Amino acid sequence: MPRPRVLLSRAMPAEVVAQLSPHCEVQANPDDVHWSRAELIARLQDQDALLDTGTQRIDAELLAACPRLKIVANMTVGFNNFDVPAMTAAGVQGTNAPDVLTETTADFGFALLMATARRISESEHYLRAGKWQSWRYDLFAGAEVHGSTLGILGMGRIGQAIARRGALGFGMQVLYHNRSQLAPDLEAACQARYVGKQELLRRADHLLLVLPYSAESHHSIGAAELAQMKPTATLINIARGGIVDDAALAQALRAGTIAAAGLDVFEGEPQVHPDLLSVPNIVLTPHIASATLATRCAMARLAADNLLAFFAGKDVLTAVNT
Ligand code: DGY
Repeated sequence: MPRPRVLLSRAMPAEVVAQLSPHCEVQANPDDVHWSRAELIARLQDQDALLDTGTQRIDAELLAACPRLKIVANMTVGFNNFDVPAMTAAGVQGTNAPDVLTETTADFGFALLMATARRISESEHYLRAGKWQSWRYDLFAGAEVHGSTLGILGMGRIGQAIARRGALGFGMQVLYHNRSQLAPDLEAACQARYVGKQELLRRADHLLLVLPYSAESHHSIGAAELAQMKPTATLINIARGGIVDDAALAQALRAGTIAAAGLDVFEGEPQVHPDLLSVPNIVLTPHIASATLATRCAMARLAADNLLAFFAGKDVLTAVNT
């Protein structure tokens, strides 16, 4: 029987290529470029599977153009690149990579919160520019983190891991809002209290966004929401671009509606709204919340495990459709 053919949409760890190679014909992306949609479709013509980084849109049009495709395995937990109903209708399996990145991503969420609240990027630029003349009591004075109120919008696994860091490590009061309230034992484990969205916006000193992107969560934070936040508050987005209205955020940061923001994800990334690039009170990073080599390899291994299970006729480990 011919071996299944798997296309890797970007460079993958050598161990993952080695994991797949005994069982599949692996087609790599030797130049590690982001293929255009037309190029991806052309390359998928003779492929059974795609291992993707969550950046290629998989929708009815692409599926119709690639009739041999049977499974798309994202190496990311987010799967907003999938049109899930279209994949199900076409009989194409989708999988994601949850859990293996939870703690690493929560670490980064906290790092971005700290960097933003304590103005680490701004002060480093000042120092590198040779502007530092002397010690001053209020030089780059930032916001308190310990003992402050941490707001979390979206309380899945990553939200809960961030809550534990805030409550147990930094003595923060943790409030959260989510589509549904957590079970009491989960709330107790991360010492977090459920509140309505308006209350979350009003009370958070630091508001962290960790909800999945969907049509429903598009621009969950826009001008109206920013106006409800404290002028001393910080906003951190490690979820997905598009959850925040980036133009409204840039305006709010300029106007002092909120104090600062930390963004790891952007609407239309890798493009970044030019207004965000010119405001000083912001920390910007290129979608690296899960980026430790150990975690990125674990994410890619899980995607490969899903492909191998699928081609062995077993249940995939982390299906996003059935
Ligand atoms: C994910 O897994 O969805 C992350 O955003 C990628 O780092």
